[in-house]
Amino acid sequence: MTGLESGQAAEYVNHFGKGYATEALRALLPVVFEFMPRAGGDGTGFDYIEAGIDPENQASRRVLEKCGFTFYRVTKQDFNHPTKGLRDSAWYRIARPGTTLELSHVQHNT
Ligand SMILES: CC(C)(COP(=O)(O)OP(=O)(O)OC[C@H]1O[C@@H](n2cnc3c(N)ncnc32)[C@H](O)[C@@H]1OP(=O)(O)O)[C@@H](O)C(=O)NCCC(=O)NCCS
Repeated sequence: MTGLESGQAAEYVNHFGKGYATEALRALLPVVFEFMPRAGGDGTGFDYIEAGIDPENQASRRVLEKCGFTFYRVTKQDFNHPTKGLRDSAWYRIARPGTTLELSHVQHNT
């Protein structure tokens, strides 16, 4: 299959709003943190995960918030959407369990 056909797209849409994206992301997060090396003093490793979404996508925003992500910042016109052209991105972050975003050296925009 090279593309999503209209019938399949309709079936796909019918599954929105049932908690599937939230459930999948919640399951994925501990796995990523387990296999991702912790941040080291030498600049290697990671203590947070960052997600970028379209700022107008309320469903994506809600999924991230339900999974514990917090808003970090907006970057301007950095995503070239195939039909909408250049779009802003909203970035969210979540810290490794046992750390905080501040400890992860995140600088929140005020
Ligand atoms: C974004 C997407 C992955 C979410 O998947 P999903 O399985 O529907 O998400 P969930 O059901 O886990 O959660 C969606 C949440 O957003 C909320 N939501 C959906 N549309 C909303 C809207 N227009 N305004 C506010 N909240 C909205 C739902 O009510 C739900 O929150 P709740 O549990 O508090 O009621 C899915 O809608 C999708 O694939 N959309 C098309 C592609 C897309 O938009 N990709 C992301 C690009 S940034």
